[in-house]
Amino acid sequence: MARVRVLDKNASETTALTAVKEVRTALARVGVDYERWDLSRVSETAPSEDVLAAYQDEIDCMKQLGGYTTADVIDVTPDTPGLDAMLARFDKEHTHSEDEVRFILCGRGIFFLHVGDHPVVSVEVTAGDWIRIPRGTRHWFTLCSERQIRAIRWFQQTSGWTPEYTGSGVDQGYEPLCFGPAFLGQRATVSIDL
Ligand SMILES: [Fe+2]
Repeated sequence: MARVRVLDKNASETTALTAVKEVRTALARVGVDYERWDLSRVSETAPSEDVLAAYQDEIDCMKQLGGYTTADVIDVTPDTPGLDAMLARFDKEHTHSEDEVRFILCGRGIFFLHVGDHPVVSVEVTAGDWIRIPRGTRHWFTLCSERQIRAIRWFQQTSGWTPEYTGSGVDQGYEPLCFGPAFLGQRATVSIDL
């Protein structure tokens, strides 16, 4: 279950949301799509081709609706070679020339969204979360302390999915404050006025 936090300029949490409806509503207000998808179709440790086959209908649907030409499965663990360098590419505010779309199979990480003059919104994504960050959205990403995530990725143009850094430095004011494991599975019904 994703957890959304709205952060003020001192990186203090002002509001936290974990209920699906509130998360979806809060993210929609900054132009980001969010859904919860079924995880029971395939084991989280299944080979990538089995994962892609299990979600073939959704993959094909998105290809038709959004022009996503390819999909793959990314696996990141603490043992992934070059993990620090990989994370360093994406933990600074950037945009992409195509959408960033992920369905989280296991593990967790945080997207920080910086849309217009809106306060920065952090989204902790976990297994079962599907998220689409439209092209041009200022954002950055990092993993939680377990440094592990597995996800399906969609691409509109594989050559275009590279970070274009804004150089704003906004990202330096925010720590990756993931919820602790004890919070996993908990739900809240906090409303918010963004
Ligand atoms: Fe990105």
